[in-house]
Amino acid sequence: MAEGMEKEQYLKFRNTLTPASGFQSAQYRKIEFASTDLINLIDARYRDSIDQNSSFKNAYNHLYWQAAGKNYTTGQKSTLLNLFEKKYLGEFIDFMEDYNDINLSRKFKELPKDVQQNPSLIKAMRHYDYTVNVKWVMAHYNAAGKYLGGKEKDLEATGGSSWRKYMHPKYQRRIFYPYLWSEEELKNWGTF
Ligand code: HEM
Repeated sequence: MAEGMEKEQYLKFRNTLTPASGFQSAQYRKIEFASTDLINLIDARYRDSIDQNSSFKNAYNHLYWQAAGKNYTTGQKSTLLNLFEKKYLGEFIDFMEDYNDINLSRKFKELPKDVQQNPSLIKAMRHYDYTVNVKWVMAHYNAAGKYLGGKEKDLEATGGSSWRKYMHPKYQRRIFYPYLWSEEELKNWGTF
């Protein structure tokens, strides 16, 4: 992504992408719901205070990617987020409910204790977590840096997020299987 074109080439077509943003990828959102417990997808700012027994709708409204579609100061939803919800909200709530008990993390925890300690399984789960939540995210962040980054001021993202903060894993702290990482690794998430 970062090497396929020059900044000028990207700037030539970027406006044709509006009004749309990568955060509106329903497929990507579903991969996340199916991978982990909802609490790990809640915006890091609310993770400690949100009532874990609250409704799926409330959890939905606190998902980390809502930040890409809301005005950071007023909390007002953008047209992009409203359009996305109009099409997918019902489907997402059903999907969240279905995968609440059968997501990959739940499946892992249901395995017999000795199987949970299988080194190959742990390695595969950590690899998946790292690839989705750090490796891909950092490649994407660096690509955005090339095309949107400015010497003094960054260009605005199509979704309008404060994208450096929105995208960097050290702020977002999306981690599908936190119990498979050491304290040190968790502390340095996104920087190793
Ligand atoms: C090459 C230039 C690209 C730039 C500058 C870019 C920039 C961004 C930015 C700034 C966001 C944050 C949301 C927003 O405010 O819009 C975002 C989200 C996203 N983009 Fe891209 N992107 C690029 C290419 C791609 C490609 C090629 C894909 C997929 C193949 C992709 C998939 C996504 C996804 C899935 C999200 C949501 C991720 C999340 O919620 O963390 N992007 N992109």
